Amino acid sequence: MRIKQILLSAAFALATMSAMASENVITVNAKKIGAPIQSTQWGIFFEDINFAADGGLYGELLKNRSFEFTPDHLMGWQAFGKVEILNDGPFDKNPHYARLSSMGHRDLWTGLQNEGFFGIGLEEGAEYRFSVWARVPDGKAQYLWIQFVDQNTMAEHQEFTNTDLKIDSREWKKYSVVIKSPRTIERAQLRLFLCNERRRSGSGTVDLEHISLFPVDTYKGHENGMRKDVAQALEDLHPGVFRFPGGCIVEGTTLDLRYKWKNTVGPVENRPINKNRWENTFTYRYYADYFQTYGLGFFEYFQLAEEIGAEPLPVLSVGLSCQFQNDREDQHAPCTKEGLQEFIDDCIDLIDFANGDPATNKWAKLRADMGHPAPFNLKFLAIGNEQWEQPYFDRLAIIAPEVRKVHPEIKLIGTSGPNAEDDKFRHGWEAMRKLKADLVDEHYYRNVQWYKDWMNRYNDYDRKGPKVFAGEWACHDSGKKYNHAGASIYEAAFMTNIERNADIVHMATYAPLFAHVDGWQWRPDLIWYDNLHTARTASYYVQQMYMLNPGTNVLPTTLSLDGGKPVANPVAKGQDGVFASAVIDKQKNEIIVKVINTATEDSPIHINIEGVKAKNLPSTADITSLDCSDYDAENMPSKPEQVCPAHGKATVTATKKGATIDATAAGKTFQMYIIKLK
Ligand code: AHR
Repeated sequence: MRIKQILLSAAFALATMSAMASENVITVNAKKIGAPIQSTQWGIFFEDINFAADGGLYGELLKNRSFEFTPDHLMGWQAFGKVEILNDGPFDKNPHYARLSSMGHRDLWTGLQNEGFFGIGLEEGAEYRFSVWARVPDGKAQYLWIQFVDQNTMAEHQEFTNTDLKIDSREWKKYSVVIKSPRTIERAQLRLFLCNERRRSGSGTVDLEHISLFPVDTYKGHENGMRKDVAQALEDLHPGVFRFPGGCIVEGTTLDLRYKWKNTVGPVENRPINKNRWENTFTYRYYADYFQTYGLGFFEYFQLAEEIGAEPLPVLSVGLSCQFQNDREDQHAPCTKEGLQEFIDDCIDLIDFANGDPATNKWAKLRADMGHPAPFNLKFLAIGNEQWEQPYFDRLAIIAPEVRKVHPEIKLIGTSGPNAEDDKFRHGWEAMRKLKADLVDEHYYRNVQWYKDWMNRYNDYDRKGPKVFAGEWACHDSGKKYNHAGASIYEAAFMTNIERNADIVHMATYAPLFAHVDGWQWRPDLIWYDNLHTARTASYYVQQMYMLNPGTNVLPTTLSLDGGKPVANPVAKGQDGVFASAVIDKQKNEIIVKVINTATEDSPIHINIEGVKAKNLPSTADITSLDCSDYDAENMPSKPEQVCPAHGKATVTATKKGATIDATAAGKTFQMYIIKLK
C-alpha cells in the first residue's frame, strides 16, 4: 500500500498544549456499546461503465476477440491481404470468425492486427498467453507469425517479439502459446501474419476464432482472470459487500439490451456479446466500440467477491427497460405473472447458480463444471436498479413473492429510484415498506451543498421498516466532476452519519468504481487506470479508511460545539466544521474514532473516551490522516499519489472518567484515531 509514513507526533504534542482552549469536545461513551455494525457496512459497486470490464478489470487485452462487434465485425482489427468474415463458426452464440487466405505470392501478406483497448499494455519480462481457436479447412498446415509491435516507434523494426504457432488441425481446436514481452509499453499492438514454417507468405488458408491475449499473471492466476493491479486495488479496500453488475446496465436502453446473466456463464467463447449501454448514453463521450464480451460474467464475479472477502450482491432486471429512456408501457415486459416469468426465473436460477446443489440443480451443476462445486453463499438479491412509481412497484409485487416462495432465505433489496429526496423517492420507500423489502437502495450523486445539508440524513429514519442500502453515491462538487480531494472530504464527513446510524444503514457502496483514462463517460470514480498503472483516488482512501476499520459496534458519540451542549449530530445543517463518529472493534479490542474537519481552518479537538479503565489504556493512539486541503489535488495514473494517508501517533492520557486525547483537527482533513486497548 502506498502510504507515506509521516510522524505527526510533534503536531499533536503542540496541540496538547492548547487543549484546554478546545472548543470541539468529542465524547465517546465506551461503556454503552451500541448497534452492531454489519460486515456489509462498506462495500463496492461494479458496473461496466468507463471501460470497467473489457479494457479494465477483466484481463483480456484484445478487442473484439470473437469478431462479433457490429456493424463492423472487424472493429478493433486491421485486416490486410485476403481476410473474410464468415458466420458458421464453432460457437453458436458467437458464430463469426475470420478466414485468412494466402495471396499466392511470397511477398504479398495476409494477416490481422489488433489495437487492444487504447493499445495493449505490456510489462517487460511478463508473460502473456496468446490463444486462438483455429483450423485449416483444407488440412494443409499453416503458421501464424505472432508479433508484439509498436507502430509509433522510429526504430527500424516495429515488432519487438516474434513467435510462431503451427495450425494443423482440420477440425476447430484451441491453440495457445506463452509469449514474454522484452519491454514495457503502454500502447502496443498484436500483429499476426499468415505464413509458412519459414515465415514466408505461402499458400493456404486458416480460420481463426476467439483470438485472445491475457497476462499469465492475473489476479489469483485464473486463466480467464482479472488484471492483477486493478483487482489488487479492490482487495486492498477490504470491501464487505460487492454490488454487481449495475446500474443502468441491468435495465438496458431497450429491454433486449439489458444485462442477461445467463449469457455471461459457461464457456467464455460462447457468451454472446452485448452492446454496452454506456456506448450510447452520452454522445459527448461516445465510444462506438464499447461492447460487453461478458468474459467477466457472473461466475467470475462470484469468484472475485469470494477472493476479496466481500458478500456478493447481484442486481437483476425487474422487467423494466431504463425508465429514463423508455416512457411507454409497451417498452417494458408485460406486467403479468406470465409476462414476467423470465425475470422470475432469472432471479431463482441465479440463486441456484450461486448456492444450489450440483447434484440436483442444472445451474448449480454449471457452477461446479466451471470450477466451483462449493456454493458461493449468496445472501442478497436486488431486483431493479433505479426504477420508480407504479411500473416498478407492480412488477416487483409479482416477482418478489415468487422468489421468496422458493428462496425465503435470500434478503431482497428494492430501490427508491434515482433521487434521494423527491416524490419518487418517498413513494418508493412507501411501496418498499408495503412489499416488505429487506433493504431499500438509495442513490445520491450530489454536490457539496447537498452533502452539507444532509449530514443528519439517517438520524430520524423509521427504525421499524426495511434497512437502508446506499447503493450509489459520491460527492460531485458543483461543476467540478472529477476526483479532487476537495469533494472527498465531504464523503468522509457524510460517512460519520452512516456510521452513527449503522442500526438502520446496513450497506453503502460508492460509485462508480472504475474508469479508464482513455475511455471514461462518467466521473468521479473510485479507481482510475491506464493500460499499465492504477491510481487510487482520495475518495478511495476515504473508503479504505472506513473499510479497514469498520468496528463491530457503534459507540454513542456526541460533540459539543463552542463549549455548548452536546448535540447528537456534530454540526448544524449546511455548516462546515468538525464531524465525528466512533466504533469499537470487540474482536481486536480497539476503539476507533473518526474525526473529519471539512472547514478550511484547523480546529482544536478534545476527544474524551468515557468508560475505559486506566490499566487498559495504551500511552498512544495510532492516527491515520488524509489531508484533503489541496482542494484540486487529484490522484490519476500519471500522478497517483497527490493525496495519500499518513500515519502518526497521539498521546492518550488517563482521566477519572476514562481517557482523553487532545489534538488538532486540521482543516480539510480526515483523521482516524485507533486506541488499542490492553
Ligand atoms: O453509476 C452510473 C449510473 O448512475 C448507474 O448506472 C445508475 O444506476 C445511476 O444513474
